[in-house]
Amino acid sequence: MKLKPFKLERYFDKYEFSVKHLLSSSDSQPLTQEEVLQMAGPDELNLWNNLGLGYTESKGLPVLREEIAKLYKNTSASQVLVVTPEEGIFITMSCLLKKDDHIISTFPGYQSLYEVADGIGCEITKWHPEEKNGWRFSPEFLNENIKPSTKAIIFNFPHNPTGYLPSQKEFSQIIDIARQHNLWVFSDEMYRFLEFNAEDRLPSACEVYEKAITLCGMSKSFGMPGIRIGWLITQDGEFCQELVSFKDYTTICSSAPSEVLALIGLKSKEKILLRQFAIVNNNLKIAEEFFRKYPNLFSWIKPKAGTISFPKLLFTDDAFEFCETLVQKIGIMLLPSTVYDYGNNHVRFAFGRKSMQEALKLFEGYLKENVINKV
Ligand SMILES: Cc1ncc(COP(=O)(O)O)c(C=O)c1O
Repeated sequence: MKLKPFKLERYFDKYEFSVKHLLSSSDSQPLTQEEVLQMAGPDELNLWNNLGLGYTESKGLPVLREEIAKLYKNTSASQVLVVTPEEGIFITMSCLLKKDDHIISTFPGYQSLYEVADGIGCEITKWHPEEKNGWRFSPEFLNENIKPSTKAIIFNFPHNPTGYLPSQKEFSQIIDIARQHNLWVFSDEMYRFLEFNAEDRLPSACEVYEKAITLCGMSKSFGMPGIRIGWLITQDGEFCQELVSFKDYTTICSSAPSEVLALIGLKSKEKILLRQFAIVNNNLKIAEEFFRKYPNLFSWIKPKAGTISFPKLLFTDDAFEFCETLVQKIGIMLLPSTVYDYGNNHVRFAFGRKSMQEALKLFEGYLKENVINKV
């Protein structure tokens, strides 16, 4: 299989660890190891202090899988496979799809969600959102585009990069359509648990549909991307076994210290989510004020969940060049929509990090000097 370069990851690679200000990182404020260990109960602390650094169980540490299962209704540890989130996408697509299968995938999006399918030789229909309609992904699109060779619907809600979250009703419609056509569903729920109104939280696809595979992990809402721990869940025991077998060709098993840190994190999930939510909520208010102030420069749709949004730049048709100049002149990193192959007018703007306020002030200063006076 030949995979095209992952444009977003290549762009991050260029700047992420050298710039001063990140305004497009999709994780919520990362925790320190010390902060996580301080939350550990006596059992987890004992596990941590006496941890052997041998190989670990391929499906994941049993107590961690139990803790993950508790996040979902009617789900047991036997349905959970611990993976690195990105690996979870690769494993699932590799097991699920074969050449000439047709898939429908939300687009723009996290590239591997459709690129691995492309590498396998699948036919891909891109499910575009309607920007004028608050970035809505219309469920009707699915009915219009399903064909006999359609194998799966792949979606990511809350959505990277728009932050879009369907209503409960729309989500049920999507699942109903998949069920009527007996299709698999791959539901990337990496940004779940950071809904700004608790009642907007959707059920996980794996809770409501027997042919769904859910992906989630510690990277975004739980602020622990560096431990590289995520999970796949499906009700289909046979398919779960296929996923486990494929993992023998990727990582075999997860990192032992990371599994324990994930366990501690999930045992303190309420505390962590409250902390992350406070940061995101405060940032979101500041971002809202900022975008309200500059309606001639940006068209911004306030998301309902997650850490990212996808404003349109109204003052240039070259988002890429704008981002490059910005990062080189004052060290602020935004992400141009070109890395999503989605035109050249949008940028990904993130509000998950504590440093957002400071970066936004500098950004505003830059706009005043270089854009506003020239518009
Ligand atoms: C929608 C989505 N899925 C999966 C991933 C992969 O997560 P990780 O980087 O933790 O492997 C990301 C990361 O940005 C993402 O945004």
